[in-house]
Amino acid sequence: MRIVILGTGAGGGLPQWNCGCPNCEAAREGRIPSMSQSGIAVSSNGRDWALVNVSPDLRVQLATNPVLRPAGLRGSPIRSVLVTNGDIDHVAGLLTLREGQPFDLFATPAIHGVLGANPMLSVLNPRLVSRREVVLDQDFELVAGVTARLFAVPGKVPLYLEGETVETGQMGEQTVGVELDANGRRICYIPGCASVPDWLRDRISGANALLFDGTLWTDDEMIRAGLGQKTGRRMGHVPVSGADGSIAALDGVPVAQRIFVHLNNSNPLVDPASPERARAEAAGWQIGHDGMEIRP
Ligand code: MLT
Ligand code: MN
Ligand code: ZN
Repeated sequence: MRIVILGTGAGGGLPQWNCGCPNCEAAREGRIPSMSQSGIAVSSNGRDWALVNVSPDLRVQLATNPVLRPAGLRGSPIRSVLVTNGDIDHVAGLLTLREGQPFDLFATPAIHGVLGANPMLSVLNPRLVSRREVVLDQDFELVAGVTARLFAVPGKVPLYLEGETVETGQMGEQTVGVELDANGRRICYIPGCASVPDWLRDRISGANALLFDGTLWTDDEMIRAGLGQKTGRRMGHVPVSGADGSIAALDGVPVAQRIFVHLNNSNPLVDPASPERARAEAAGWQIGHDGMEIRP
């Protein structure tokens, strides 16, 4: 199985257009790597690819990743797209895929409901783009040789559907993780997750690779940095550090390779020279970067 991390950033990317925080400034000045927004590509044979989450940066991600270039005058090795929630950073790239190319679009019925309610997405010609509803916890063929399974993880509805009160630990079809099986290998991709319950540890256990929500280092880092009013948990993202953070919660769970993805620009992990990065690496984690390829 081959996995290419197309984008390692959370919504907004790094640098974020309206952010002058030290990380965004460092990225603008080329002192730390920039990150485009969240998504991966997966293949078992290197010819047929699926995209899992398609960000607003998809056009550039496709232009700069050689495995995803067309083989002929018109065409694409992209056979399917799967989205794990309805967040803008995971679905806006669908608008980039509107140039008359057939593919399957997989999502849970609830996420398809959200996508179906958006008239702009009717630009995806239904004769070419089949919207395929996926039942949780059932195997389906995502792309030749790759079996996928969606499972609910604690999360919330997309930002643009939040009402007066928001349940952030909701378990259902709105936020899912994905297990990908190919060539006898299993990887778990969970870019958004509000907490790490015991059953999730069990589910991940034994995977050949885990790509996990690395949005924030500490729950209140955006508030303390003066960048926003919300905690990570309020945004549906468990922090990385701390007694109930993901490093501690996943410590001791056997996984061959563990990688943080979906990093917010406020996260000190985005700076390769930060002490936090050294701590995460000492705990056995890698920090994803755009274009990183994994062959679990
Ligand atoms: C998130 O992951 O919390 C969302 O992508 C935020 C957003 O919609 O910008
Ligand atoms: Mn996001
Ligand atoms: Zn910033």
